[in-house]
Amino acid sequence: MNHLMSSYKIGNLELKNRIVMSPMCQYSAVKKDGMPTDWHLHHYTTRAVGGVGLIIVEMTNIEEDGRISDFCLGLWSDAHRDAFKPIVDQAHKHGAKIGIQIAHAGRKAEDTDSPISASPIAYDETFKKPYEASESDIKRLVIGYQDAARRAVEAGFDVIELHGAHGYLIHQFLSPYTNQRQDRYGEERTLFAVEVIKAMKAVMPTDMPLIMRISAMEYVEEGYELTDAVAFSRTLKEAGVDLFDVSSGGEGKPSSTRFQKPYAGYQVPFARKIRQEIGVPVMAVGMLENPEIANAAIRSNDADLVAIGRGLLSHPYWTFSAATQLNLDMHVPKQYEQATF
Ligand SMILES: Cc1cc2nc3c(=O)[nH]c(=O)nc-3n(C[C@H](O)[C@H](O)[C@H](O)COP(=O)(O)O)c2cc1C
Repeated sequence: MNHLMSSYKIGNLELKNRIVMSPMCQYSAVKKDGMPTDWHLHHYTTRAVGGVGLIIVEMTNIEEDGRISDFCLGLWSDAHRDAFKPIVDQAHKHGAKIGIQIAHAGRKAEDTDSPISASPIAYDETFKKPYEASESDIKRLVIGYQDAARRAVEAGFDVIELHGAHGYLIHQFLSPYTNQRQDRYGEERTLFAVEVIKAMKAVMPTDMPLIMRISAMEYVEEGYELTDAVAFSRTLKEAGVDLFDVSSGGEGKPSSTRFQKPYAGYQVPFARKIRQEIGVPVMAVGMLENPEIANAAIRSNDADLVAIGRGLLSHPYWTFSAATQLNLDMHVPKQYEQATF
Protein backbone atom coordinates (compact mmCIF):
# COMPACT_ATOMS: atom_id res chain seq x y z
CA MET A 1 0.00 0.00 0.00
CA ASN A 2 1.30 3.47 -0.86
CA HIS A 3 2.23 5.81 1.97
CA LEU A 4 3.88 9.18 2.54
CA MET A 5 7.38 7.79 2.19
CA SER A 6 6.80 5.56 -0.85
CA SER A 7 8.50 6.54 -4.06
CA TYR A 8 6.52 7.92 -6.97
CA LYS A 9 7.14 8.15 -10.69
CA ILE A 10 5.40 10.16 -13.35
CA GLY A 11 7.02 10.49 -16.76
CA ASN A 12 10.73 10.92 -16.15
CA LEU A 13 10.16 12.43 -12.70
CA GLU A 14 11.12 9.98 -9.96
CA LEU A 15 10.46 11.10 -6.41
CA LYS A 16 11.82 9.41 -3.31
CA ASN A 17 8.66 10.19 -1.34
CA ARG A 18 5.25 11.83 -1.74
CA ILE A 19 6.11 15.06 0.06
CA VAL A 20 6.15 18.27 -1.98
CA MET A 21 7.15 21.70 -0.76
CA SER A 22 4.26 23.87 -1.87
CA PRO A 23 5.17 27.01 -3.84
CA MET A 24 5.35 29.97 -1.47
CA CYS A 25 6.24 33.54 -2.46
CA GLN A 26 9.15 34.88 -0.46
CA TYR A 27 8.96 38.48 -1.75
CA SER A 28 12.75 38.44 -1.50
CA ALA A 29 13.91 39.08 -5.04
CA VAL A 30 16.06 42.09 -5.68
CA LYS A 31 13.63 44.98 -6.10
CA LYS A 32 12.30 45.13 -9.66
CA ASP A 33 14.85 42.80 -11.29
CA GLY A 34 13.13 39.53 -10.31
CA MET A 35 16.40 37.74 -9.60
CA PRO A 36 16.67 35.07 -6.93
CA THR A 37 18.97 35.91 -4.03
CA ASP A 38 20.93 34.12 -1.32
CA TRP A 39 17.69 33.87 0.59
CA HIS A 40 16.18 31.63 -2.08
CA LEU A 41 19.31 29.51 -2.30
CA HIS A 42 19.35 28.82 1.45
CA HIS A 43 15.57 28.56 1.82
CA TYR A 44 15.19 25.88 -0.86
CA THR A 45 18.42 24.03 -0.09
CA THR A 46 17.36 23.68 3.55
CA ARG A 47 14.16 21.87 2.50
CA ALA A 48 16.20 19.60 0.19
CA VAL A 49 18.45 18.72 3.14
CA GLY A 50 15.21 18.22 5.08
CA GLY A 51 14.20 15.34 2.84
CA VAL A 52 11.22 16.55 0.80
CA GLY A 53 10.78 14.60 -2.44
CA LEU A 54 9.94 17.62 -4.61
CA ILE A 55 10.42 21.32 -4.08
CA ILE A 56 8.27 23.67 -6.13
CA VAL A 57 9.86 27.10 -6.30
CA GLU A 58 7.41 29.92 -5.63
CA MET A 59 5.34 31.82 -8.18
CA THR A 60 7.88 32.98 -10.78
CA ASN A 61 6.57 35.33 -13.36
CA ILE A 62 6.80 35.58 -17.11
CA GLU A 63 7.07 39.38 -17.25
CA GLU A 64 7.96 42.27 -15.02
CA ASP A 65 4.40 43.63 -14.91
CA GLY A 66 3.04 40.15 -14.17
CA ARG A 67 4.24 40.06 -10.59
CA ILE A 68 2.28 40.53 -7.38
CA SER A 69 5.04 42.83 -6.14
CA ASP A 70 8.36 44.27 -7.25
CA PHE A 71 10.01 41.72 -4.95
CA CYS A 72 8.61 38.67 -6.75
CA LEU A 73 10.72 36.37 -8.90
CA GLY A 74 10.84 36.38 -12.70
CA LEU A 75 11.98 34.21 -15.56
CA TRP A 76 11.71 36.66 -18.43
CA SER A 77 15.39 36.61 -19.44
CA ASP A 78 18.23 34.16 -19.83
CA ALA A 79 19.98 35.94 -16.96
CA HIS A 80 17.13 34.80 -14.69
CA ARG A 81 17.55 31.25 -15.99
CA ASP A 82 21.23 31.31 -15.09
CA ALA A 83 20.51 32.73 -11.63
CA PHE A 84 18.26 29.75 -10.84
CA LYS A 85 20.91 27.16 -11.75
CA PRO A 86 22.71 27.15 -8.36
CA ILE A 87 19.36 26.59 -6.59
CA VAL A 88 18.58 23.66 -8.88
CA ASP A 89 22.07 22.21 -8.42
CA GLN A 90 21.94 22.45 -4.63
CA ALA A 91 18.51 20.81 -4.48
CA HIS A 92 19.83 17.94 -6.59
CA LYS A 93 23.03 17.67 -4.57
CA HIS A 94 20.94 17.18 -1.44
CA GLY A 95 18.65 14.55 -2.94
CA ALA A 96 15.51 16.49 -3.88
CA LYS A 97 13.81 17.02 -7.20
CA ILE A 98 12.91 20.60 -7.96
CA GLY A 99 10.26 22.31 -10.07
CA ILE A 100 9.22 25.92 -10.57
CA GLN A 101 5.80 27.53 -10.63
CA ILE A 102 5.41 29.69 -13.73
CA ALA A 103 2.85 32.45 -13.42
CA HIS A 104 1.42 35.84 -14.24
CA ALA A 105 -0.50 37.75 -11.60
CA GLY A 106 -2.81 39.52 -14.08
CA ARG A 107 -5.15 41.90 -12.23
CA LYS A 108 -3.50 40.97 -8.93
CA ALA A 109 -0.19 42.57 -9.99
CA GLU A 110 -0.02 45.30 -7.36
CA ASP A 111 3.11 47.31 -8.19
CA THR A 112 2.55 47.82 -11.90
CA ASP A 113 0.77 50.92 -13.20
CA SER A 114 -1.21 48.93 -15.77
CA PRO A 115 -2.19 45.40 -14.86
CA ILE A 116 -3.69 43.16 -17.56
CA SER A 117 -6.59 40.73 -17.26
CA ALA A 118 -9.23 38.83 -19.20
CA SER A 119 -11.73 41.66 -18.58
CA PRO A 120 -11.35 45.18 -17.16
CA ILE A 121 -12.64 44.34 -13.69
CA ALA A 122 -10.63 45.29 -10.60
CA TYR A 123 -10.14 42.73 -7.81
CA ASP A 124 -11.67 45.21 -5.40
CA GLU A 125 -11.63 48.97 -4.78
CA THR A 126 -8.06 48.85 -3.43
CA PHE A 127 -6.66 47.33 -6.65
CA LYS A 128 -6.04 49.07 -9.99
CA LYS A 129 -8.49 48.44 -12.78
CA PRO A 130 -6.79 46.14 -15.32
CA TYR A 131 -6.99 46.59 -19.07
CA GLU A 132 -8.51 43.85 -21.18
CA ALA A 133 -5.96 41.71 -23.01
CA SER A 134 -6.23 42.07 -26.79
CA GLU A 135 -5.60 39.11 -29.11
CA SER A 136 -2.07 40.39 -29.67
CA ASP A 137 -1.50 40.71 -25.90
CA ILE A 138 -2.66 37.11 -25.57
CA LYS A 139 -0.18 35.97 -28.23
CA ARG A 140 2.60 37.81 -26.39
CA LEU A 141 1.58 36.23 -23.06
CA VAL A 142 1.48 32.71 -24.52
CA ILE A 143 5.00 33.24 -25.85
CA GLY A 144 6.02 34.58 -22.43
CA TYR A 145 4.83 31.39 -20.73
CA GLN A 146 6.57 29.33 -23.39
CA ASP A 147 9.87 31.19 -23.06
CA ALA A 148 9.74 30.83 -19.27
CA ALA A 149 9.14 27.08 -19.65
CA ARG A 150 12.08 26.76 -22.02
CA ARG A 151 14.31 28.61 -19.56
CA ALA A 152 13.11 26.41 -16.70
CA VAL A 153 14.10 23.33 -18.69
CA GLU A 154 17.47 24.87 -19.54
CA ALA A 155 18.07 25.73 -15.88
CA GLY A 156 17.72 22.03 -15.06
CA PHE A 157 14.35 21.99 -13.28
CA ASP A 158 12.83 18.50 -13.16
CA VAL A 159 9.25 19.61 -13.57
CA ILE A 160 7.19 22.72 -14.25
CA GLU A 161 4.05 23.81 -12.46
CA LEU A 162 1.74 26.20 -14.28
CA HIS A 163 -0.14 28.51 -11.90
CA GLY A 164 -3.81 28.40 -12.84
CA ALA A 165 -5.22 29.06 -9.36
CA HIS A 166 -5.71 31.71 -6.66
CA GLY A 167 -7.17 34.38 -8.91
CA TYR A 168 -4.05 34.93 -11.02
CA LEU A 169 -4.08 35.46 -14.79
CA ILE A 170 -4.95 31.97 -16.03
CA HIS A 171 -7.61 31.60 -13.36
CA GLN A 172 -8.96 35.03 -14.42
CA PHE A 173 -9.55 33.58 -17.89
CA LEU A 174 -11.05 30.31 -16.57
CA SER A 175 -13.59 32.01 -14.33
CA PRO A 176 -16.92 33.47 -15.52
CA TYR A 177 -16.60 35.91 -12.62
CA THR A 178 -13.48 37.57 -14.08
CA ASN A 179 -13.78 36.61 -17.76
CA GLN A 180 -16.69 38.50 -19.29
CA ARG A 181 -15.22 38.72 -22.78
CA GLN A 182 -17.41 38.51 -25.86
CA ASP A 183 -14.72 36.99 -28.11
CA ARG A 184 -13.57 33.36 -28.45
CA TYR A 185 -11.51 33.64 -25.22
CA GLY A 186 -14.78 34.41 -23.44
CA GLU A 187 -16.92 31.84 -25.26
CA GLU A 188 -14.33 29.17 -24.50
CA ARG A 189 -12.84 30.17 -21.16
CA THR A 190 -10.28 27.36 -21.23
CA LEU A 191 -8.83 28.57 -24.54
CA PHE A 192 -6.10 30.78 -23.08
CA ALA A 193 -4.97 28.04 -20.66
CA VAL A 194 -5.04 25.45 -23.45
CA GLU A 195 -2.84 27.64 -25.66
CA VAL A 196 -0.41 28.20 -22.78
CA ILE A 197 -0.26 24.49 -21.91
CA LYS A 198 0.37 23.48 -25.53
CA ALA A 199 3.03 26.16 -25.96
CA MET A 200 4.82 25.08 -22.80
CA LYS A 201 4.65 21.38 -23.62
CA ALA A 202 6.13 22.11 -27.06
CA VAL A 203 9.40 23.21 -25.45
CA MET A 204 9.48 20.63 -22.65
CA PRO A 205 11.07 17.20 -23.06
CA THR A 206 8.26 14.77 -23.97
CA ASP A 207 8.66 12.79 -20.76
CA MET A 208 8.83 15.84 -18.44
CA PRO A 209 5.49 16.17 -16.64
CA LEU A 210 3.55 19.42 -16.52
CA ILE A 211 1.77 20.07 -13.24
CA MET A 212 -1.00 22.65 -13.10
CA ARG A 213 -2.33 24.26 -9.95
CA ILE A 214 -6.02 25.02 -10.15
CA SER A 215 -8.65 26.45 -7.87
CA ALA A 216 -11.21 23.65 -7.76
CA MET A 217 -13.79 25.85 -6.05
CA GLU A 218 -14.45 29.57 -6.08
CA TYR A 219 -15.78 31.25 -2.97
CA VAL A 220 -17.22 34.49 -4.34
CA GLU A 221 -21.01 34.49 -4.53
CA GLU A 222 -21.08 34.03 -8.34
CA GLY A 223 -18.14 31.59 -8.31
CA TYR A 224 -17.85 28.28 -10.12
CA GLU A 225 -18.39 24.90 -8.48
CA LEU A 226 -16.29 21.77 -8.19
CA THR A 227 -18.26 20.20 -11.05
CA ASP A 228 -17.19 23.11 -13.30
CA ALA A 229 -13.57 22.57 -12.27
CA VAL A 230 -13.85 18.87 -13.09
CA ALA A 231 -15.17 19.78 -16.54
CA PHE A 232 -12.45 22.32 -17.34
CA SER A 233 -9.72 20.08 -15.89
CA ARG A 234 -10.73 17.43 -18.41
CA THR A 235 -10.04 19.89 -21.21
CA LEU A 236 -6.75 20.98 -19.61
CA LYS A 237 -5.67 17.36 -19.26
CA GLU A 238 -6.37 16.77 -22.94
CA ALA A 239 -4.24 19.83 -23.72
CA GLY A 240 -1.27 18.30 -21.87
CA VAL A 241 -1.52 18.61 -18.07
CA ASP A 242 -0.10 15.48 -16.44
CA LEU A 243 -0.92 16.15 -12.78
CA PHE A 244 -3.20 18.65 -11.04
CA ASP A 245 -2.22 20.45 -7.85
CA VAL A 246 -5.65 21.05 -6.38
CA SER A 247 -6.19 24.22 -4.39
CA SER A 248 -9.15 26.60 -4.21
CA GLY A 249 -10.27 30.24 -4.05
CA GLY A 250 -8.28 33.45 -4.44
CA GLU A 251 -10.55 35.05 -7.04
CA GLY A 252 -12.15 37.59 -4.73
CA LYS A 253 -13.68 38.21 -1.33
CA PRO A 254 -15.15 34.89 -0.13
CA SER A 255 -18.87 34.83 0.50
CA SER A 256 -19.78 33.75 4.01
CA THR A 257 -22.30 31.23 2.67
CA ARG A 258 -19.85 29.56 0.29
CA PHE A 259 -16.66 29.65 2.34
CA GLN A 260 -16.28 27.64 5.53
CA LYS A 261 -13.40 28.09 7.92
CA PRO A 262 -10.57 25.85 6.59
CA TYR A 263 -9.80 22.69 8.55
CA ALA A 264 -7.11 20.00 8.24
CA GLY A 265 -7.22 18.45 4.78
CA TYR A 266 -10.18 20.56 3.66
CA GLN A 267 -9.14 20.54 0.01
CA VAL A 268 -8.45 16.78 -0.17
CA PRO A 269 -12.02 15.98 -1.33
CA PHE A 270 -11.50 18.31 -4.30
CA ALA A 271 -8.31 16.46 -5.27
CA ARG A 272 -10.03 13.09 -4.85
CA LYS A 273 -12.94 14.14 -7.05
CA ILE A 274 -10.69 15.31 -9.87
CA ARG A 275 -8.55 12.16 -9.59
CA GLN A 276 -11.59 9.87 -9.66
CA GLU A 277 -13.64 11.65 -12.31
CA ILE A 278 -10.85 12.30 -14.78
CA GLY A 279 -8.42 9.51 -13.97
CA VAL A 280 -5.50 11.91 -13.58
CA PRO A 281 -2.82 12.04 -10.85
CA VAL A 282 -3.30 14.79 -8.28
CA MET A 283 -1.51 16.62 -5.50
CA ALA A 284 -3.52 17.56 -2.43
CA VAL A 285 -2.68 20.70 -0.46
CA GLY A 286 -3.95 22.70 2.49
CA MET A 287 -3.43 22.14 6.21
CA LEU A 288 -1.87 18.73 5.80
CA GLU A 289 0.96 19.19 8.30
CA ASN A 290 -0.50 16.56 10.61
CA PRO A 291 1.46 13.55 9.26
CA GLU A 292 -1.42 11.14 9.96
CA ILE A 293 -3.73 13.22 7.78
CA ALA A 294 -1.15 13.66 5.02
CA ASN A 295 -0.43 9.94 5.07
CA ALA A 296 -4.14 9.09 4.99
CA ALA A 297 -4.56 11.15 1.79
CA ILE A 298 -1.94 8.94 0.10
CA ARG A 299 -2.99 5.61 1.62
CA SER A 300 -6.61 6.06 0.68
CA ASN A 301 -5.66 7.01 -2.90
CA ASP A 302 -7.29 10.40 -2.52
CA ALA A 303 -4.04 11.91 -3.79
CA ASP A 304 -0.75 10.82 -5.35
CA LEU A 305 1.28 13.58 -3.71
CA VAL A 306 0.77 15.96 -0.80
CA ALA A 307 2.05 19.53 -0.74
CA ILE A 308 3.03 21.10 2.55
CA GLY A 309 3.25 24.88 2.77
CA ARG A 310 3.37 26.62 6.13
CA GLY A 311 4.30 23.38 7.89
CA LEU A 312 7.59 23.43 6.01
CA LEU A 313 8.18 27.10 6.77
CA SER A 314 8.00 26.44 10.48
CA HIS A 315 9.63 22.99 10.34
CA PRO A 316 12.16 22.57 7.50
CA TYR A 317 12.76 19.03 8.78
CA TRP A 318 9.05 18.19 8.84
CA THR A 319 9.69 15.15 6.63
CA PHE A 320 11.93 13.50 9.25
CA SER A 321 9.44 14.20 12.04
CA ALA A 322 6.57 12.85 9.92
CA ALA A 323 8.47 9.64 9.16
CA THR A 324 9.30 9.19 12.84
CA GLN A 325 5.72 9.79 13.91
CA LEU A 326 4.39 7.35 11.30
CA ASN A 327 7.08 4.79 12.02
CA LEU A 328 8.18 4.80 8.39
CA ASP A 329 11.75 4.39 7.10
CA MET A 330 13.51 7.57 6.14
CA HIS A 331 17.04 8.45 5.17
CA VAL A 332 18.34 11.15 7.52
CA PRO A 333 21.66 12.85 6.61
CA LYS A 334 24.45 11.27 8.61
CA GLN A 335 25.30 14.64 10.16
CA TYR A 336 21.85 14.65 11.81
CA GLU A 337 21.64 11.01 12.84
CA GLN A 338 21.94 11.84 16.52
CA ALA A 339 19.10 14.31 16.42
CA THR A 340 15.60 13.50 17.57
CA PHE A 341 12.88 14.27 15.09
C1 LIG B 1 3.89 32.75 2.52
C2 LIG B 1 3.04 32.04 1.51
C3 LIG B 1 3.27 32.25 0.17
C4 LIG B 1 2.52 31.56 -0.80
N1 LIG B 1 2.83 31.71 -2.12
C5 LIG B 1 2.25 30.91 -3.05
C6 LIG B 1 2.72 30.86 -4.38
O1 LIG B 1 3.74 31.47 -4.73
N2 LIG B 1 2.05 30.09 -5.25
C7 LIG B 1 0.97 29.33 -4.88
O2 LIG B 1 0.38 28.65 -5.72
N3 LIG B 1 0.54 29.31 -3.61
C8 LIG B 1 1.17 30.05 -2.69
N4 LIG B 1 0.81 29.94 -1.37
C9 LIG B 1 -0.17 28.92 -0.98
C10 LIG B 1 0.58 27.64 -0.56
O3 LIG B 1 1.29 27.07 -1.64
C11 LIG B 1 -0.41 26.58 -0.02
O4 LIG B 1 -1.28 26.22 -1.06
C12 LIG B 1 -1.20 27.11 1.16
O5 LIG B 1 -0.35 27.76 2.09
C13 LIG B 1 -1.95 25.97 1.87
O6 LIG B 1 -1.07 24.98 2.31
P1 LIG B 1 -0.59 24.89 3.85
O7 LIG B 1 -1.84 24.82 4.69
O8 LIG B 1 0.23 23.63 3.91
O9 LIG B 1 0.21 26.12 4.15
C14 LIG B 1 1.50 30.66 -0.40
C15 LIG B 1 1.26 30.48 0.97
C16 LIG B 1 2.04 31.12 1.91
C17 LIG B 1 1.77 30.85 3.37
